[in-house]
Amino acid sequence: MTVELSIDDRVAVIRLAHPPVNSLGRSVRQGLLDAFQAAAQDPEVEAIVLYGGDRVFSAGADITEFASGASGDALAEPTLPSVIDAIEASTKPVVAAIAGACLGGGFELALGCHRRILAPNARVALPEIKLGLLPGAGGTQRLPRLIGPERALEMIVSGQQIDAATAVALGIGQASSGDLRADAAALARGAIGQAPDRLSQRAAALTNPAEGDAYWAAQHKKAAMMGPAAAKCVEAVRAAVALPFADGRLFENACFVYLLQTSEARALQYAFFSERRAAVIGDIEAGTQAMPVNTLGVVGAGTMGGGIALTALNAGIRTVLVESNPQNLDRAVSRIRTSLEQAVQKGRITATEAERRLALLSPAADYAALGCADVIIEAVFEDLEVKRQVFLQLDAVAAPTAILATNTSTLDVDLIAAVTPRSASTVGLHFFSPAHVMRLLEVVRGARTSDAALVTVMTLAKRLGKTAVISGVCDGFIGNRMFEEYLRQAYFLLEEGATPLQVDQALERFGMAMGPFAVMDLAGGDIGWAIRKRRAIERPGDVYSKIPDRICELGRFGQKTGAGYYLYDAKGKRIPDPDIDELVIRYCAEIGLTRRAVSDEEIVERCVFALVNEGARLRAEGICQRTSDIDVVYRNGYGFPAHRGGPMHYADEVGLPHVIGRMTAFHAGYQGRFWEPAPLILDCSARAARLSDA
Ligand code: 3HC
Ligand code: NAI
Repeated sequence: MTVELSIDDRVAVIRLAHPPVNSLGRSVRQGLLDAFQAAAQDPEVEAIVLYGGDRVFSAGADITEFASGASGDALAEPTLPSVIDAIEASTKPVVAAIAGACLGGGFELALGCHRRILAPNARVALPEIKLGLLPGAGGTQRLPRLIGPERALEMIVSGQQIDAATAVALGIGQASSGDLRADAAALARGAIGQAPDRLSQRAAALTNPAEGDAYWAAQHKKAAMMGPAAAKCVEAVRAAVALPFADGRLFENACFVYLLQTSEARALQYAFFSERRAAVIGDIEAGTQAMPVNTLGVVGAGTMGGGIALTALNAGIRTVLVESNPQNLDRAVSRIRTSLEQAVQKGRITATEAERRLALLSPAADYAALGCADVIIEAVFEDLEVKRQVFLQLDAVAAPTAILATNTSTLDVDLIAAVTPRSASTVGLHFFSPAHVMRLLEVVRGARTSDAALVTVMTLAKRLGKTAVISGVCDGFIGNRMFEEYLRQAYFLLEEGATPLQVDQALERFGMAMGPFAVMDLAGGDIGWAIRKRRAIERPGDVYSKIPDRICELGRFGQKTGAGYYLYDAKGKRIPDPDIDELVIRYCAEIGLTRRAVSDEEIVERCVFALVNEGARLRAEGICQRTSDIDVVYRNGYGFPAHRGGPMHYADEVGLPHVIGRMTAFHAGYQGRFWEPAPLILDCSARAARLSDA
């Protein structure tokens, strides 16, 4: 039973009962229709309340039904728009009683009701754009008629959730401060005998109709830069203003069906599910419980430690921050304070909330302060001996049940863990910089990391608002190990004939947030230089272009030294530097290489397919649990465009035979030794299976 019906004193309560999120799949839609028909026919019923429980009203359409496109259950009868129309047409007053998430089709369902009442925990949104879609069940037509086209368009194009107070202020519904069900029933009884307020019968008008053309032109222009879904959102809301409801609805439906087939929508829906899959730990003992984390310890108050501490404070977790250098500690505390003050200035939090968060922080010089911490994250210098010393000190002061974590980006977590008898309680937590902004967290599972430790840090990651992906121990973990292959190709492309700007622009046009040379200038060329020097000793056969070393030898480490692959103006804008182009040309002459014209297409394929190949190898080695986790890493940590799903999904979309064909061609070209297609790609292609499902 996905929909329940009960009757109390003339009011039918129709309750969505489809855990976990009351998604509106085919059976729920049929259940809703049946319940409303039963309530319509029952002479004892004079008003109706639609309720989803006290935690979630509805998360909207069942996204799993979209996978089969327009031919699947998503558009099968009874469709969501037709169910909502039937509800709106009810002659008995219908009240939506909203608690918790009321999203997408769930919000459209509430807009089909005649009145809405919201509990304090209610959150409403039309987030379809984040799935490459537009609201397809009347949302683009009813919301503009309720709150005005301008505000409605803002909600639809941003997909952002608004809280109950904001929704009430916008006129979306009224507030319930007590018992939501009782308040809704009272509201419904009060409406008996009154004409139902059907949004479809209202008109939608701009605040200033005389400036309509300019308004729509500006909205179209903005949307054009955001992809096909945004453009359709604008057209559909414009239709709500220009057309009668029924025609606007038909237009909305045509847009929805069109968007459902786009590669962007496929990629974004894949992204949604792959993120949820990444949280699942495949091979742990069933029933393993997370340990409670009341206090977090952070050691090292530098760039990363300070950011990690701020992340924890923002999540409301008591944090002890230990640092050996008093100046660094002071600087970190003052950065945290500034960041909280900025959040207040931007209206994101209140001054009281900022104070509350700051009060959760205990800066300390002495490791003894860490005795109360449930999880301690070490973020000191990237040096094995320093980190092992820190772990020895932690072993002496930490509670016996504490989990010890290292934020190392390149060192072997097992070697750090081995210094104490606490290997089972040791794990890697690789945050990305800036730690309080970047969503990605690589959770590194050491050879002896216990299931309980792993579950605890995965649960902590969710509380911290991070998207966590589990990685095995290897050099660079998932993200940086793949990034090395991406960079290797970017550098070779310079040798063959490209410039840093051409490589960056080609990849930025593809959708990467920043091209590789801009990234290196931001991260600091000296870090990669140090790693390459270490590699030259560890793996003398590893071939890398010498161009990045030549640039570092000039003291050009990127933005922090004012120059790297680019020069930077006072505002930090990159400027191509002819000296670098000359350095590259000179280097090519030195090694006897004739430069050629390199196409943008080759740049994208060389760099992205290098990610794909290394990703497939990582999966085969068991470093990641599933290839879709790689895509989660690349979208959330490396600026890979979400509308392309991630490197592995992208390879599936262009077709594995094409990918293999290009790799084979590259294999015959310059420095071709890196282009042996990984066996997993060949295997998936031979089975016509998707690499992103591996
Ligand atoms: N359809 C199908 N499954 C859904 C779903 C949906 N709309 N929303 C959530 N789920 C599933 C998740 O995949 C997850 O499944 P799993 O346990 O098997 O991994 C489970 O519900 C719980 O979800 P979360 O892990 O995300 O739980 P949270 O409590 O963290 O978040 C939420 C809950 C805020 C509702 C979040 O899941 C969410 O944002 N969901 C998507 C909302 C959305 O995009 N709605 C629009 C759908 S498109 C639409 O309505 C089209 C219409 O206009 C026609
Ligand atoms: P940092 O140099 O900014 O900060 C390190 C801090 O640790 C310094 O303030 C130092 O005084 C302190 N410290 C050193 N030894 C200590 C000890 N024994 N006890 C207490 N404090 C001590 O370094 P950053 O950039 O914050 O890096 C820290 C760690 O995070 C490194 O392992 C690094 O590889 C890793 N990392 C860095 C990223 C980055 O982008 N900076 C990204 C991801 C991981």
